[in-house]
Formats: sequence, C-alpha cells, structure tokens
Amino acid sequence: MNSTKISNYLCLQGYLPILKDWKKSTMPQKTLVCLFFLLLNLAVFTSDDGFTFNGLTGANLTLDGIASITSNGLLMLTNKTKRMKGHAFHPSPLHFRKPPDGKIFSFSTTFVFAIISEYADVSGHGIVFLVSPTTDLSNASPGPYLGLFNAKNNGNSTNHIFAVELDTIVTSEFKDINDNHVGIDINSLTSNSSHTAGYYADDTGSFKNLTLISGQPMQVWVDYDGEEMQLNVTMAPIRMFKPRRPLLSSTIDLSSVLVDPMYVGFSSSTGSVLTSHYVLGWSFKMNGIAQALDYSKLPSLPVLQKGRSKALDISLPLASAALVLMIVGAAIFLVRRRNKYAELLEDWEHEYGPHRFSFKDLFRATKGFKDKELLGIGGFGRVYKGVLPTSKMEVAVKRVSHESRQGMREFVAEVVSIGNLRHRNLVQLLGYCRRKGELLLVYDYMPNGSLDKFLYDQEKPALDWNQRFRVIKGVASGLLYLHEDWEKVVIHRDIKASNVLLDNELNARLGDFGLARLYDHGTDPQTTHVVGTMGYLAPELARTGKATTITDVFAFGAFILEVACGRRPIEANAAEEHVVLVDWVLENWRRGTIGETRDPRLGEDYAVGELELVLKLGLLCSHPLPAARPNMRQVMQYLDGDAPLPELSPTYLSFSVLAMLQNEGFDDFIMSYPSSVHPSSTLSGGR
Ligand SMILES: *[C@@H]1O[C@H](CO)[C@@H](O)[C@H](O)[C@H]1NC(C)=O
Ligand SMILES: *[C@@H]1O[C@H](CO)[C@@H](O)[C@H](O)[C@H]1NC(C)=O
Ligand SMILES: *[C@@H]1O[C@H](CO)[C@@H](O)[C@H](O)[C@H]1NC(C)=O
Ligand SMILES: *[C@@H]1O[C@H](CO)[C@@H](O)[C@H](O)[C@H]1NC(C)=O
Repeated sequence: MNSTKISNYLCLQGYLPILKDWKKSTMPQKTLVCLFFLLLNLAVFTSDDGFTFNGLTGANLTLDGIASITSNGLLMLTNKTKRMKGHAFHPSPLHFRKPPDGKIFSFSTTFVFAIISEYADVSGHGIVFLVSPTTDLSNASPGPYLGLFNAKNNGNSTNHIFAVELDTIVTSEFKDINDNHVGIDINSLTSNSSHTAGYYADDTGSFKNLTLISGQPMQVWVDYDGEEMQLNVTMAPIRMFKPRRPLLSSTIDLSSVLVDPMYVGFSSSTGSVLTSHYVLGWSFKMNGIAQALDYSKLPSLPVLQKGRSKALDISLPLASAALVLMIVGAAIFLVRRRNKYAELLEDWEHEYGPHRFSFKDLFRATKGFKDKELLGIGGFGRVYKGVLPTSKMEVAVKRVSHESRQGMREFVAEVVSIGNLRHRNLVQLLGYCRRKGELLLVYDYMPNGSLDKFLYDQEKPALDWNQRFRVIKGVASGLLYLHEDWEKVVIHRDIKASNVLLDNELNARLGDFGLARLYDHGTDPQTTHVVGTMGYLAPELARTGKATTITDVFAFGAFILEVACGRRPIEANAAEEHVVLVDWVLENWRRGTIGETRDPRLGEDYAVGELELVLKLGLLCSHPLPAARPNMRQVMQYLDGDAPLPELSPTYLSFSVLAMLQNEGFDDFIMSYPSSVHPSSTLSGGR
C-alpha cells in the first residue's frame, strides 16, 4: 500500500507534465508513462496484506463473547464455560478482491491450536477459522452452531461466510461425519467437504489420525489458489513439516461468497462439556505463502490436570516386563470375572463400536446397579443414575429386559441412528450395551428429573406459567424435529409428562423417543399389542394399533392440557364428569369458562391469552378425528403466534361419546390397561 502512495507521488511530481503535453512528448517518454501506469495498476490491484503472530499478545485482536488473551499470549476463545461462544478477529478488514474483475486473490494462513476438555473423551464444540463480512456475530448460537450461525440463518447465502471447522461433536442435523473432523463450510454448518482429522504421512502416504480434543497443540494450514479456485486444508502435529498431501482439497469458487472487505479470525463455542479452545499462533498472507510460525516463541498451554497420557508414556517402557506377569494374572482374574461382566456382542455390531458401552463401565458407573442409584422403575425396566468411570460424565442407564433376539439387529441399528438425533429439546441417547436377555440404554442425565414430578409432587415447587409455556413450546419443537426435520420420520409413541425431563435450566427435553417400538419386540405381555399410555392414546391407535405422527399429535394435545390443568388425562378416582380431562376442558369451553380448568397452583399470575391458546390447542390436537388435528409444524406456528389458531368446530365430539359410538375394542382397551393409568407404571428414560 505504501508503494501505491509512492507511485501517486511520483505521478504527480514527475509525469504530470508529460501527460499535459502528451502530443509533444517523445516516444520513449510515452512508453515510460505506459509502463508506469502498468506498474501503478499492479501496485493498486495487488494486495499484500499479511501478518504473523507467534503468541497473540501484540495482535490487538477484536474479541467478543468469552474470548480473551491470557497473560502469556494465548488466545483463549472459550474458557471452560458451558454453552458460550467466543470470537477473535484481526482488527482491520482485508481486501480479497481484485478491483476491475472482482477476482479473488490467493491467500494462505496457518495457525496452531489446542482444545482442552475437562474429560478425556468428550469435548465441545470446536474451533473455526473464518472469513466474515462482519465482526458482529452476536446473533450466532453457541453449541453446534459453533458461534457462526443460528437456526434461522444457517445455510443462507447472504451470510457470506467461508470457514474451516475443527469439529469435535457429531451433529447429524449438519450431516457431520464423526466427532473428530475437519470441514470446509460455506455459509452453512453442513460442510462442503470434510475429513476425519489427521494427515497423510509424506514417507508412506498412509493416513494418521489426530485427535482434536487430545489437548496437544496442532497446526492447520489453509491455502487458496484464486486462479485455480483450489482450496487445500492440511493439518499436522506441531513442529512437523507441512505434509505434502493436503487433508482436504476442493475446487471452490469463493467469488460468490466473499464480499469486499472481509475480516479474518476465529470462532469457537462450547456445549454441555467444559472446554477451553486455544490459538497459540497465527500467520496470514494475501497473495503469498503465510510466514512459518516460530514454535519456540509460541506461548505454553496451561498444564493438563489429567496427566493421564503423560503417566502412561513414562511408565510404559518400565512396565513392559511387569506387563507379561500382569497379563497372566489378569487372564486368570478375567476368566473369573467374565460371567459378571459378560456381554453379547455379535459381528454385525462392530460397525456400531462408538455407540457401544461396555457392561463393565456401566456396572461401575452405577455402583453395580445399586438401589441407591435408582432413578425410577417402569413397566419395562429400571433407570439408574451413573457416572462414567473415565469421563466422569453423569448419565442415566436404563435396563430393559429383552428376551427375543428377533429384530434385535434392526433395533440396534435404530438405537444407533436415534443416538445421532440431536436437538436441544430431546434427551440425548449416548449409546447402548447388550447382555443376554437385556438391553442397556445410556442417556444424558437430567438433574431435574421428569416434569410430572413438578406437576403432581407437592414437594417440588409448582412451575409458573412462563415456565410451563416454555416447556410446552420446547416439547413441540422437539417433536417437530422428530417428525419433520430429521432425515427420517421418528414417531415418539409415548408423549406424556413423565417422559419429559427437565435439564438444569428447566428446559424441557423429550425422552424415550422412537424406542417405544422396542416394546413391540419385547416380552412384556402387557405391551404386546399397543404401546403408549392410556389417556394419551388416539382412538384410532387403539383401534388399528398403527402409530403415526398424527397419533403423536393427539398425545401432545393430552400432554399440554395436562401441563396447563395440572391434571392427568384420565383420573379414575375423580368425580364422574372429571374423569377424562379432554371432556372436562371441552365442557368448560362450551360454557365459555375454559380458563377455569387451569391448574389452581398457577395462582392468578398467568397470561390469559397464552393459557387459552394452550387449552384450545390441546382440544384441537386431541380431536377424536385424526383429520381435524393440526401437524406439529402448524402447532409450532400457533404457539409462536405466527398463525392464528383455527376456531374449534361446534360439532367437536367428546372423547367418550366417540368411544361409545365406535365401540370397537376401545372400551376393552381401557379395561385391559387399568394399571397404565397409575403413575408408577410409567417408564421414562434419561433422567
Ligand atoms: C470466563 O469468562 C467469563 C466472561 O469473561 C467470566 O465471567 C468467567 O468468570 C470466566 N470463567 C473462567 C473459569 O475463567
Ligand atoms: C436469507 O437472509 C436474508 C437476509 O437476512 C432474508 O431476507 C432471507 O429471507 C433469508 N433466506 C432464507 C431462505 O431464509
Ligand atoms: C482413525 O479414526 C478412524 C475413524 O474414527 C478409526 O476407524 C480408526 O481406527 C482410527 N485409526 C487409528 C490408528 O486410531
Ligand atoms: C493443493 O494441493 C495439491 C496437491 O498437493 C497441490 O498440487 C496444489 O498446488 C495445492 N494448492 C494450493 C492452493 O495449495
């Protein structure tokens, strides 16, 4: 840029007279001027911006969120705080475009990063190098959105963001390949291309894995050739030469992505695991190769508290002799223990390796499935609280008795694919384990337990209206995701208050989704025909046994009435006209007193409009005729106030009247399931 100034100066001082008297000038003079303008053009249109920071102390980066620079010069994008984001940008924007034709310049950058998690085997969510038209990413979400986008703008080409993600969590919504990958992102978290983190060794050409969350510093190179439109991403452990073969090499036209000017920097976000994301050094160069980093000048990382791998490194050579003895001892020991920890593992299960927990770990986690760790008992099994031995992560382990081998393979495939579902209103299924006659399912632990406790347990505080409305919207959003927004339609089949769990911020999370199908193959005689809980079962489901998204909507209707009224859908002991909640609410609606059905524990402090909306929506969803029920997308629109709730038709039949009219096994059904009305027979996972 200085050269531009000098050229301008020369131009004014020396060459202006020639321009003025162009006709009188000699040929050599004219040639000189032409040459000069050619040079001037090159000077103006060639940007040579670049910088190198070995440690980020002097970088004067523009920081936001929880990003900060430590006293020794580490850029700490996140600092062990959950569900937060942090950004750091080079303070001045850069010109990536050549003026006349707008072609994108070549550029090159390299940085050293490290991710330190409180656990050895889980972390969240990763680091991103990004090129962005703005430094204001305040609307971006943390967690899987990596502080780049939010649910609304993800995928929108008006974002104009190019990014390279180092992603440590699988988010199936964004089609992530695994929980340790590098991806090229254009305006969206669904990567253009991605690869397991690692590098191709120069000598053998073989691929070597790198673990992003190892806590070890690693180096990344991002190189773009503007002419060839080729983008390479390469990574390696620190102090290694840049591998010749890039990890990712893609042809990408950035000219529709990058505007002028652009900021370069980093973004990072955390989810539910305390993780620190660091950048140790960074170098960038426009139209050239980024200057190499000086490893000796990079700041050091905070000492790992775990020390697990270090200890192993030192003890390994010493221990090799002792190892032989130990193996012999262990073998004897193992034979004895084998029965205690015996598992069923068949060949076809190997592809599900990452989703498989060892029974031993689960046994230890739950202190041997001690009664003290019991969270709940249901018709199908028991749910225990556990703390995983290595990661110290809190989980809920559900033991389901399961004799039949039939359908097991399909079922496990389904469990694994359900484990890939991720949504803030779903309880995360982490994996499974199989033993003879039983299946163990491992879920995220939800400290606040299930919603029904808050509705009926006098010991728990009553939820106020705002909390209840948020719970209702949360469950609606989770269910919408299951029905419409995931790659497969997942029918929940058992929506009810005891299957809705509350996390530590009282966010509602739907548990046990899709798994109800397990009970179809199960041995429990009570459940061989229809799955679900009385009062939440759509009349057509009782008749045909076929669960659909619309039977889920019915149950959702019963559920939201339950939340608003603080009453179970069916209360056998109540006065006659109060037995079936829907009928009672319907009766009050006809009389114009629908608001009277609200939970007395709400007191007088509630939003009248929202309460009526919920009650009427509950009636609409619980409509006995399937065709009259809305789908979950419409439900969400009504709840968000984006669409007006349709008026209920005056011909709305009461539930019991319809049942009487149909008289097709519906009453039989009620009678054959008396116990499922009872609270203790309801099973919910993932507490
Ligand atoms: C992380 O940063 C936030 C915001 O700057 C601060 O409030 C919090 O105390 C920090 N936490 C730790 C563990 O350093
Ligand atoms: C993309 O973002 C623009 C500007 O924010 C908005 O007008 C447009 O509706 C968005 N497109 C989609 C498909 O969401
Ligand atoms: C590398 O990672 C892949 C995918 O996670 C895994 O299948 C493979 O076993 C790993 N290889 C090594 C040497 O760790
Ligand atoms: C990308 O990698 C390929 C293969 O090594 C190489 O031929 C090409 O020059 C590289 N391009 C850039 C922009 O680094």
